[in-house]
Amino acid sequence: MEPRGRRDENWRTFFSERAPTWLVLALLLSVCYVQGLEMNTGKIPFVQAVNGSTVLLPCTYASCIGIKNLYFKWEFKDNGTMRLVCDAVIRAEGVEPHPKIYKDRVEFVGSSKQNNVSILLWNVTFEDAGEYICFGKNPKEKGKNHSATFTLIVVDELRVVDNTLTIIIASSVGGLIALLMAFMLLKNFTLFILAKIEEKNKECLVSSSGIDNTENGLSGSKVTPKSTPKKA
Ligand SMILES: *[C@@H]1O[C@H](CO)[C@@H](O)[C@H](O)[C@H]1NC(C)=O
Ligand SMILES: *[C@@H]1O[C@H](CO)[C@@H](O)[C@H](O)[C@H]1NC(C)=O
Ligand SMILES: *[C@@H]1O[C@H](CO)[C@@H](O)[C@H](O)[C@H]1NC(C)=O
Ligand SMILES: *[C@@H]1O[C@H](CO)[C@@H](O)[C@H](O)[C@H]1NC(C)=O
Ligand SMILES: *[C@@H]1O[C@H](CO)[C@@H](O)[C@H](O)[C@H]1NC(C)=O
Repeated sequence: MEPRGRRDENWRTFFSERAPTWLVLALLLSVCYVQGLEMNTGKIPFVQAVNGSTVLLPCTYASCIGIKNLYFKWEFKDNGTMRLVCDAVIRAEGVEPHPKIYKDRVEFVGSSKQNNVSILLWNVTFEDAGEYICFGKNPKEKGKNHSATFTLIVVDELRVVDNTLTIIIASSVGGLIALLMAFMLLKNFTLFILAKIEEKNKECLVSSSGIDNTENGLSGSKVTPKSTPKKA
């Protein structure tokens, strides 16, 4: 713990003393750190889709040094083996590619004007679930490979029933809490009434057995709300 803190301190002075140098370096880095190509499948690289629906498999690219004859492809990891889904070459920035499609129900919806190489997968089946790899290679970078993965999870409509079940559970729990609160309010109210009666009884100087009787009578008539859970 201690040595770490000291090291942090050292770093801090190191940075502050050379602040102008670091600033320039950081600026340079932020500008050209993405010098190479970068494939991006979004901040949330997975989607859950109901079978039969249509999903977008998003992918964009970025390159600081620009692109020329950028080769991209989508691959599907089918039970461990890679299957080509779609591929094309983007000749230059802003030139639309003419992708070849190798998988059923796939449509290319990207546009090189938006650095977008997304695809649509129509009428999703359970066999479509798995990892989709968006791959890019910019010859300007001497054959360096770049890729990003997007995962497709296929569920059937039963999940919706699961949701209603949780809603039922949540509402019944809420109902139970409301019932409990009502019960406690009722209890406090009866206690208050009892205290009032006791007060009055004391005022009237009634014997203690009389108090017992009223108490018994009241608690006997008190209704204890019991929840009877409905069975589906
Ligand atoms: C999704 O799968 C379920 C179970 O296999 C099936 O009953 C349902 O018809 C399917 N839905 C669509 C839209 O294909
Ligand atoms: C997937 O792989 C498993 C084991 O490697 C194999 O038993 C199964 O038949 C494969 N399924 C398909 C659809 O290829
Ligand atoms: C998707 O399913 C609908 C209805 O079954 C069908 O009309 C449509 O042609 C299918 N689309 C593709 C791309 O297979
Ligand atoms: C890529 O293009 C598709 C289809 O036009 C669009 O739905 C998607 O939002 C685009 N993605 C980005 C990151 O621009
Ligand atoms: C880059 O990708 C190509 C095509 O998928 C492959 O043949 C090659 O081995 C990969 N190179 C590296 C360094 O991963």
